[in-house]
Amino acid sequence: MNINVIISPCGLEELYFTNKTVVVIDVLRASNTIINALQNGAKEIIPVAAVEFAVKVSGGMFGGQTLLGGERNTKKIEGFALGNSPLEYTDSVVEGKTIVFYTTNGTPAIVKAKFSEYLIICSFANISAVAKILIKKKKDFEILCAGRNNTLSLEDIICTGYLIDEITNGKKNIPLTDSAKASLTLYKTIGKNIKKFLSETDHGKLLINNGFDEDVVFCSQVNSSEVVPVFSNNSLKLS
Ligand code: MLT
Repeated sequence: MNINVIISPCGLEELYFTNKTVVVIDVLRASNTIINALQNGAKEIIPVAAVEFAVKVSGGMFGGQTLLGGERNTKKIEGFALGNSPLEYTDSVVEGKTIVFYTTNGTPAIVKAKFSEYLIICSFANISAVAKILIKKKKDFEILCAGRNNTLSLEDIICTGYLIDEITNGKKNIPLTDSAKASLTLYKTIGKNIKKFLSETDHGKLLINNGFDEDVVFCSQVNSSEVVPVFSNNSLKLS
C-alpha cells in the first residue's frame, strides 16, 4: 500500500485519477456538510463544479425532492435553499432529498476526481471509518486535499496526516511520498488540539469573522460519524 497526498487539485488533469482509489478532504466545510447531510437522511448529494451548472442540474429534477445547497465566499448563494453550514442540513430539512451542491473548493475537487475507481469523502468526523475501509482494501491510494484558492490549506493537510497516522499506526513499512510524510509530521507537531488550530487557520478565521463560529467547532469533532460518502454515478451516497 503506497500513500500519496495531493495538496491542491490546482493544475491536475481529470484523467490523472483514472483507476485510482482517492480520498477527498475539505475540512472547512464541504466534507462535513456532505457527511452530515447523508447522516441525516439525504438520499444523495450531487457535487458540481460551477454555480450555473447547479442551477441547470436542479432545474431538470423533480420539484420538492431536490434542494440546491452551497456557498460563494462562505455565504449562501442567492436562490439556493441552503448554504454550506453543516448545521443547516438537519433531518427535517434533508431527509429523502437529493441535494445539488456547489462550494468554492470542495465540490470542484470532487468533480475533478470523478474518474477515480473508488472515491470517498473524509474529514475529522469520519476518520476512523475511512481508515478502516482503506486498511481493508490494502490498495495504493491518494488523498486529494481541496485546499483553498489554488494552494494548500492547513486543516486539510493536518486531517490528511491524522488519517495516515490511523492507517500506518506506527508501521514503518508503508511507503509514503514526501507530501504524505510532510502531512504526518504536521499532524504530529501542530495537529493535536484540533479545535484550537482550526480556529487559527486562514479559512477558520474567515468563517469566524463571517459569523460561522459554530461551524468551526462542529468541524473539529473527531469520529462523530460512521458515514463514509462514496461517489458513484455522479452522486455521493452512503457506502
Ligand atoms: C469550500 O469548498 O471552499 C468550502 O467548503 C468553503 C466554505 O467554508 O464554505
